[in-house]
Amino acid sequence: MTDQAALAKKQPENAVEINDVAKRYGSVTAVKQVTLSIRRGEFLTLLGPSGCGKTTLLNMIAGFEAASSGQINIDGRDVTNVPPYLRDTGMVFQNYALFPHMSVFDNVAFGLRMRKRDRQTITRDVERALDMVKLSGMGERRVKQLSGGQQQRIALARAIAFGPRVLLLDEPLSALDKNLRTQMQFELKELHEKTGLTTIFVTHDQGEALSMSDRIVVMSRGEIQQISAPLELYSRPANGFVASFIGEINRLPVARLSRRGTSMSFAFPGALTLTAEGLAGVLPQDNEDVRVFVRPEKIAIADPAKPEANVVSAKVISHIYQGTHTITRVEADGLGPIEMRVAGGRIIDEQPAGSTVRITLSLDHAVVLRASEAGLEAA
Ligand SMILES: Nc1ncnc2c1ncn2[C@@H]1O[C@H](COP(=O)(O)OP(=O)(O)O)[C@@H](O)[C@H]1O
Ligand SMILES: [Mg+2]
Repeated sequence: MTDQAALAKKQPENAVEINDVAKRYGSVTAVKQVTLSIRRGEFLTLLGPSGCGKTTLLNMIAGFEAASSGQINIDGRDVTNVPPYLRDTGMVFQNYALFPHMSVFDNVAFGLRMRKRDRQTITRDVERALDMVKLSGMGERRVKQLSGGQQQRIALARAIAFGPRVLLLDEPLSALDKNLRTQMQFELKELHEKTGLTTIFVTHDQGEALSMSDRIVVMSRGEIQQISAPLELYSRPANGFVASFIGEINRLPVARLSRRGTSMSFAFPGALTLTAEGLAGVLPQDNEDVRVFVRPEKIAIADPAKPEANVVSAKVISHIYQGTHTITRVEADGLGPIEMRVAGGRIIDEQPAGSTVRITLSLDHAVVLRASEAGLEAA
């Protein structure tokens, strides 16, 4: 057995364990009783709207904020009362928080010097970290002389140089423009694959979370709403908040469910009935009031030549052209406002605003939630 394999064997499966952790600032509860395990080597994302407690939770893992209650383990060690520099977490802050007057080398060497590594090791590990973020040879530069994107990489190099147990990233890409951000998303993923570092990534951008994560923790108002892999989160949101926050989705009016096995029919106000077949997951009971959530790509212009289910008459309100597709807003009889996603841009001329269309809703992959559980809306 190699040394590394022996070490891995001794270590617990979870790199980080958060047990019933809360944070109160006076009367404000920023984080409420959160329990969460982060697996070794995992890329886990904390996702939620601004103010939901992401930074506070990350700061408690790093030790920059003390938990009001609860307990945190890193690699099986209780670190609840351990100061930040003894927790061995590498952190990238939202604003980078580099030392502006120091050189790139000294910034990256910071964690190594704190840990009293010898000079040779420091030189080697700084170079290695700079190489990882594709800035080798930049050590002599002043931080002030670097672009935003380069500073972001230096912050990343500083966080990984000393070999942390966990990498904590607080919205590291939010200050970058769109092209650079996409590029850095790829590079962060590559870095994660190369190093195998357990990574906790914070973002309010659901697209970023879906594209980068092994698992996503959706938070709202200091609480975890759902923990799932991206695909599962998109197709099986646990409640109305997650359904609305992850991707675009239409929330239809409350309907009465008639259920026979996985065959369902939904009676909407105004004598409109829609049907769905073969829905999976935990489903509400027969005769309950439910909310049906349906993605814009599951709604199409009906083909008059084909017998189709769930055809409804609708009035076109507006179009938003997006290149590969068009988002068309309609007002559907009995269902209210609906957004649909139509390939290309031809619909803009063929069905101008004010015209009447017949649309078909494919509900076989819809999300059906008990009306009482679907109420919480994404901000
Ligand atoms: N030092 C503080 N003092 C008082 N309230 C705070 C402090 N830090 C954060 N909060 C509050 O805690 C909540 C969560 O904040 P934060 O963790 O920064 O959210 P996020 O990172 O998800 O945007 C917010 O309501 C915020 O105003
Ligand atoms: Mg934050």
